[in-house]
Amino acid sequence: MQDFSFYNPTRIEFGAGKIASLSQLVPTNAKVLVLYGGESAKRNGTLDEVKHALGDRQVQLFGGIEPNPSFETLMEAVAIVREQDIEFLLAVGGGSVIDGTKFVAAAALHQGDAWDILLTGGQHIDAALPFGSVLTLPATGSEMNKGSVITRKSLQAKLPFMSELVFPQFSILDPVKTYTLPTRQIANGVVDAFMHVIEQYLTYPADAPVQDRFAEGLLQTLTEIGPKALANPEDYQTRASLMWTATLALNGLIGAGVPQDWATHMLGHELTALHGLDHAQTLAVILPEMLRQRKQAKLGKLVQYAERVWNIHEGSDDEKAEAAIERTRDFFESVGVKTRLSDYDLGAEHIDAIIDSLTQHGMTKLGEHGDITPEHCRQILLASL
Ligand code: NZQ
Ligand code: ZN
Repeated sequence: MQDFSFYNPTRIEFGAGKIASLSQLVPTNAKVLVLYGGESAKRNGTLDEVKHALGDRQVQLFGGIEPNPSFETLMEAVAIVREQDIEFLLAVGGGSVIDGTKFVAAAALHQGDAWDILLTGGQHIDAALPFGSVLTLPATGSEMNKGSVITRKSLQAKLPFMSELVFPQFSILDPVKTYTLPTRQIANGVVDAFMHVIEQYLTYPADAPVQDRFAEGLLQTLTEIGPKALANPEDYQTRASLMWTATLALNGLIGAGVPQDWATHMLGHELTALHGLDHAQTLAVILPEMLRQRKQAKLGKLVQYAERVWNIHEGSDDEKAEAAIERTRDFFESVGVKTRLSDYDLGAEHIDAIIDSLTQHGMTKLGEHGDITPEHCRQILLASL
């Protein structure tokens, strides 16, 4: 096992009706800005429930944070925070709203150009406003981690940042709030959570048996409950499992003490920035060919993954790895997330620009060994057509 430092200060309030606990969790005297996305939180009553729980606190609303939250929109929220002396932020939504709120929390107290937060990956953040979240979409784990991904539309750039100062103080996870999610978003959530586990598990053996077993448990849970969550939107227990699994997939626990990959995510960000694919769609396209391209380097873990997650016990190591890659592709397709670039109307003619952008963003040494180059990524995209 590798040495590690594990820190996670986020309180989780989990269960039906838990939005009411905002009345205790949000400071009573603070000026609060509630940030949300499009219309979903209004339409399904979540926003009203939140306002009710906040009682007579001084509350303002900021709506319109888009999926793949944009720097441009978020800077409008930063201006309001500064003008109105907002002291506490509350995100109500999915990963995009929570990521956006993390950025606003840091940018509001940042001296100089706020885009530098992204250009430096969050390394120089020395203060951020406190905030909490009400999660409405199980997928990203943003509700219990220190990461955020922001898009600057004018530059077609989607970049991540991290800072311990942007852990939410608390997150409310009410599985009932996920009942109104469209099928596509549930499928995206299953794939994204699955991929978060894969990025922290499918590397090389690191003598970390408990991390491996946690990861395998999360992957098996997702293969089991993913189809059920799609088939029965109001099955509380299934939605509860999905919500908690997605949180555990990226709250730091399974990644402590093990090598991590993240190449599929970094290449995926370019596909979203340039062509607008949903985050999970990019991952479903890239992973199968990424694994094939990295088969030798990942063989030990691929065989373990084949045996323990997919119960593949026949054949040579190479055959087991191949079978596991195809089972993974089939799983993504079975929940309705397409796995070929051509499914999203992208062809060979788009690949040069994607690789240029990846290179421009400095993503030239990816993967757990830092040896995945833009040229490898080009081969992966060609194989994913
Ligand atoms: O905008 P509204 O109207 O709220 O609709 C949203 C949005 O259109 C809708 N939605 C959310 N909750 C709903 C609902 N519709 C009906 N009922 C509900 N209860 O769902 C749509 C997608 O929402 P979004 O927040 O964009 O999805 P997700 O949670 O998948 O977040 C994706 C973003 O998170 C980033 C991604 O890159 C992407 O920008 N990620 C963040 C990570 C992190 N912070 O650790 C890690 C991930 O790898 C990921 O990169
Ligand atoms: Zn992701």
